[in-house]
Amino acid sequence: MTANNAQLLVIFGVTGDLAQRMLLPSLYGLQRDALLPADLTILGTGRTALDQEGFALYVREAIERRVPAGERDATHIDALCARLRYQAAGLDNSNELAALCQTIRQLRTGDVVFHLSTAPRWYSAICSALGAAGLSGAGTRVMLEKPIGHDLASAIEINTGVGQIFDEDRIFRVDHYLGKEGVQNLLALRFGNALFEPLWNARHIAQVQITVAETVGVEGRGDYYDESGAMRDMLQNHLLQLLCLTAMEPPSNFDPAAVRNEKIKVLRSLRPIDSDDVATHSVAGQYTAGAIDGVAVPGYRDELGRQSQTETFVALRAHIDNWRWSGVPFYLRTGKRMPRRATEIYLQFRAVPHSIFGGALIEPNALVIQLQPEERISLMLMSKTPGLDRSGLKFSQVALDLDLHETFETVRKRLAYERLYLDALEGNGTLFVRRDETEVAWQWVDGIFAGWKHAGLAPRNYPAGTWGPSSAVGLIERNGFSWRE
Ligand code: BG6
Repeated sequence: MTANNAQLLVIFGVTGDLAQRMLLPSLYGLQRDALLPADLTILGTGRTALDQEGFALYVREAIERRVPAGERDATHIDALCARLRYQAAGLDNSNELAALCQTIRQLRTGDVVFHLSTAPRWYSAICSALGAAGLSGAGTRVMLEKPIGHDLASAIEINTGVGQIFDEDRIFRVDHYLGKEGVQNLLALRFGNALFEPLWNARHIAQVQITVAETVGVEGRGDYYDESGAMRDMLQNHLLQLLCLTAMEPPSNFDPAAVRNEKIKVLRSLRPIDSDDVATHSVAGQYTAGAIDGVAVPGYRDELGRQSQTETFVALRAHIDNWRWSGVPFYLRTGKRMPRRATEIYLQFRAVPHSIFGGALIEPNALVIQLQPEERISLMLMSKTPGLDRSGLKFSQVALDLDLHETFETVRKRLAYERLYLDALEGNGTLFVRRDETEVAWQWVDGIFAGWKHAGLAPRNYPAGTWGPSSAVGLIERNGFSWRE
């Protein structure tokens, strides 16, 4: 597909939480560095009635709140505001939607990107309205926020609804983890270095852990979160994307088809976890009151204000049934109210086949790819502990450390949406999720939910500020490994 830089960006749900936290600050970042197409107009829409001044004020306030003071500059904020338009539209109001489409047609002089940052149940209706107004042909693209449904059936429904209006190569499903610098650096590490590839397989790697731990609770999004839980909110998308990038074969190039063809093979190779396996391959948890960094925090049900069986933590033992990964467990875990924020991929290599040092403790090598809070790559090696060793050599684990935060100190850290917006405006879908990826991921996750239901498994409690229920420890220790903490 050849695409031109878009000249119009339409954001549905611009008065929502995501827009305030991420989208508007990202657009400001791009404006500040003169990276937006010169003629780009941004049309925001939401249910709230706002005139143009009111909308500009709302955008200024979002930037005030979310962009660090040192990065704010009145000239650039003014320049961003000069691109902005707003038109209110209720998504259930066909007249207002039609009027909005009319405005879009007037503003459109070239390619246009529609960013749907609304509840997914509106996606099909919005796309139908756009289609009916002649706004879905060549030169139009649509970005969809997660979650694409809450199970396979609803994902198919949404994908089919949107797919009837927009061709797949013009649908850009957002997983904001793919826009993160650290996540792209995982690809750079794997495919920009010859060193790791010979070792990146079951012959040399004993286990892999992917952790996305958050200290936050549900942050006022209780109603959404309680319908989702950790599995639907984080694992089905962010963790499985990280798994794909860690485990996939080298694509032949960095274009959308090549990368996504490799990712889908990983998802299709995931061994199902069914009712016979759930007890040994999965753990769900829900946080109770506890403390994080010495500050007392309430339990999930107290935050929510009602009873709930929704999991705020999930840990899985996954297997990828292919030649490269045969027999290697992939431990995935994510949770809210963990002791520290950490997004990390940990690959533990196999132990030395024979020790020439008698009983000295030699730990296996490991590669730790930390993506958040800071980017850092550490290769854990064994080194001799200094000393005269009259009773035999002693070893210590030392790290060959690459602190990317420090190395690139002068380079501004980008928000994920800065990259994703530029790619969508240019029409490059490499860092977006293809239909088959979302659906195969749902199919796998649905199997686990069915297993939980069949086996009558409910989330176990864990106090806020801990690494999940104690059974999560059992999940990994059963195989002779332990979580990296
Ligand atoms: C979102 C989830 O997709 O990712 C949130 O809906 C979660 O619940 C967030 O907090 C985490 O993203 P990040 O960028 O802070 O790691």
